[in-house]
Amino acid sequence: MLTENGILNQGYRGVLLRSLASRHGEKVFYCARGRRHWITDARWLAENGFAWPSDVIEVHADVLDALLPGQNAPLRHDLATWRMPDRVLTTWGMRELSVSRLKGSGIEVGAGANPMPIPLHCQIKYVDIFDVSQLQEHRYDGQESLDILRPDIVAMLGKLDPIAPESLDFVVACHVIEHTRDPIAAIADAWDKIKRGGSLVLVVPEISRTFDKHRALTELDHLIGDFKESDPERMRDMQHFQEFYAKAFVTPAESYVATWKEKWAEDFPIHYHTWTHQSFMEMIDWMMSESLLPGLQEAWSRPPLPADEGCIEFWVVLRKEE
Ligand SMILES: C[S@@+](CC[C@H](N)C(=O)[O-])C[C@H]1O[C@@H](n2cnc3c(N)ncnc32)[C@H](O)[C@@H]1O
Repeated sequence: MLTENGILNQGYRGVLLRSLASRHGEKVFYCARGRRHWITDARWLAENGFAWPSDVIEVHADVLDALLPGQNAPLRHDLATWRMPDRVLTTWGMRELSVSRLKGSGIEVGAGANPMPIPLHCQIKYVDIFDVSQLQEHRYDGQESLDILRPDIVAMLGKLDPIAPESLDFVVACHVIEHTRDPIAAIADAWDKIKRGGSLVLVVPEISRTFDKHRALTELDHLIGDFKESDPERMRDMQHFQEFYAKAFVTPAESYVATWKEKWAEDFPIHYHTWTHQSFMEMIDWMMSESLLPGLQEAWSRPPLPADEGCIEFWVVLRKEE
């Protein structure tokens, strides 16, 4: 039986697959349109009109591995929760909430092997600064090669040139904006690609909760300088590399200078800048005051969850007027 708002009623037909004797183990995936979506919460089944366990088909591991990874299947969140997000108590729930109102087609930038739980009815293209073989070569600990989201477009947040202005319903970037040299320009560039009624969703690490905690908070004046001062030699970035390899990825004294110089020369995507939720929103306020976010209708944001020390991020959604 399907619930009234069940996923099949949204014209999206798929099946539930599981492969117990494989690397996926107990994981159940909703599979459709060539992608597999991990169902992280059993409530999703009932929400979408599936019965447990009769609707789950056991398959050979090759079947799951042949499907491209897609976003994890999100639970639904209503407008009341959007307005009172303090009801949501987990980091994953906050990620779900931050993208819960998205519709249409858009991009997720920098998904890695951990895509945002964007509603399944959305059309998503994946964008990364690296192509899939580079992403596989530089896998983070614990990342499975087969779980890396294959970028459809290789481009940078900050220079989304392959994408036409006002062509997307959404741009999502989770733990990516801190890797940009000029975040104000990056946000303005992404904003330019979004249609009326569309949204920009940013998930951002909070300085005190990550390996950046011993670094200085980036001042708004510095970010404005990055935006306004032409710096083709990347001299303004040098201090970030020095600080990053002294205070975040702490490097032994004997290799410190060689390391930051090497990483600076190769333009390695370090965390260039650091924010608190408050300092980030001050940057957004400045952008608004400079008319860099034309048509901004709603700026929704939430600080990191206070009671969850494992929560290292805050969430920002900027919505354009219709
Ligand atoms: C820290 S990982 C985040 C992965 C995932 N979104 C998450 O939250 O776990 C950063 C990802 O963004 C990509 N990336 C870094 N800088 C980028 C940029 N300026 N534009 C596009 N992608 C970028 C990296 O290649 C990587 O895939």
